[in-house]
Amino acid sequence: MKYAIPKGVFDILPKDPTKEGAFRASHLWRFLEEMIHTLAREYGFREIRTPIFERTELFVRGVGESSDIVTKEMYTFEDKAGRSMTLRPEGTAAVMRAFVEKRLDQLGGKQKLYYIGPMFRYERPQAGRYRQHHQFGVEVIGDASPEQDVEVIDMLVTLYRRLGLQKLTVMLNSVGDAQTRENYRAALRAFLEPKLDTLSEESRLRFEKNVLRILDSKDPEDQKALKGAPLISQYLSEEAKEHFQRVQFLLDKIEIPYVVSEKLVRGLDYYTKTVFEVTSESLGAQNAIGAGGRYDGLTSLLGGPNLPAVGFAAGLERILHTMLEQEAALPQEPHPILYLIPIGEKSREKGFQLVHTLREEGICAEIDFHPKKVGKAIEHAANMGATYALVFGDEELTSGEIKLKHLASREEIPLNLQGLSHFLLGKQSQER
Ligand code: HAM
Repeated sequence: MKYAIPKGVFDILPKDPTKEGAFRASHLWRFLEEMIHTLAREYGFREIRTPIFERTELFVRGVGESSDIVTKEMYTFEDKAGRSMTLRPEGTAAVMRAFVEKRLDQLGGKQKLYYIGPMFRYERPQAGRYRQHHQFGVEVIGDASPEQDVEVIDMLVTLYRRLGLQKLTVMLNSVGDAQTRENYRAALRAFLEPKLDTLSEESRLRFEKNVLRILDSKDPEDQKALKGAPLISQYLSEEAKEHFQRVQFLLDKIEIPYVVSEKLVRGLDYYTKTVFEVTSESLGAQNAIGAGGRYDGLTSLLGGPNLPAVGFAAGLERILHTMLEQEAALPQEPHPILYLIPIGEKSREKGFQLVHTLREEGICAEIDFHPKKVGKAIEHAANMGATYALVFGDEELTSGEIKLKHLASREEIPLNLQGLSHFLLGKQSQER
């Protein structure tokens, strides 16, 4: 098609008729977003909204020059004044930019912020991997304690549990401070250097710039080469080790199971100490449903006060894929409780007024302005998922006696017009 949608992005529709597109139904997105707003309120987080694009340097500096995001995945363009801009590939750097620039530290105490919004990465599209995806993210700035790490992990796991997700694994690691990572990178390079020829092409490219990412490689030859490689835990400072132990202790206390994975290093450069990733068995190759960690140096790297910080982001598409795959309870599609079918000119006028009044009372009512055949109109009402249909002609108009048709059971309910809104309000609240 000439004006087809670009690769790797999708429309969120009232309903997508295909099975693969089930996650693109807008009511599911609203449901998920509402759950997130409620969760955030309960955990004491306040919403922040940053622009969709920022100056390119922010991400180069914030996410890291050697990261895959910066080297290959950014949507970068020049604006009309020749400045380089980038569609945000993630939220953390942008939130930190806003925090530093707007001096949010002056609000006093630590700041607990959250966001929901689209992110853009030029990746090879596949199931669960998009060029525009949506994240729910949180960032806590100003608390260095392991308790804070565990509070955000707890929040993420609680969201998944509330949504009814199962078969998730929390993977946990500590990457220490910048010095630890530098020492570890050197050790890993020294270890892999003699085996460089056996590594996959991708890993050979990563060897110089981003050697830690070789650890996540799924290539069997790379995995073979990594056997006996040094572990990051051997390079942690005493303080980082204690911090990590306390994180594990606290997770045990609130009974969140986790697996320590020495290979988890994360692809963004800003992490320090705790890192985590939650994987879902229902997702296939792109199985990270959420991830995050501590990043204590970022505010000062961006020119602000030196403050500790920790956060996570979860992909909304991947949450919905998992929910659908695991047949978790989903909200009903929005539908009218009443579908009014007026017959004749007078009934149409009265029906027009009636629907207006019902809507004012908060009832989801729909009217067919020009019904041709009653049978067809009822069929249409059923297709829309309406609960009741009301055929409204001269007789009903004069007597005020009506019959509601329950579309699922075909049962007819006699009522007086006076009692209609009371009846519908009751039914509507039962349905919700
Ligand atoms: P990230 O691991 O790059 O972390 O992304 C977070 C989550 O976004 C992933 O776990 C995944 O669920 C989802 N995601 C990422 N890329 C895609 C994609 N192309 N298609 C669909 N879903 C995707 C960050 O972005 C960090 N800013 C997280 C963070 C916040 N760390 C500290 N604070």
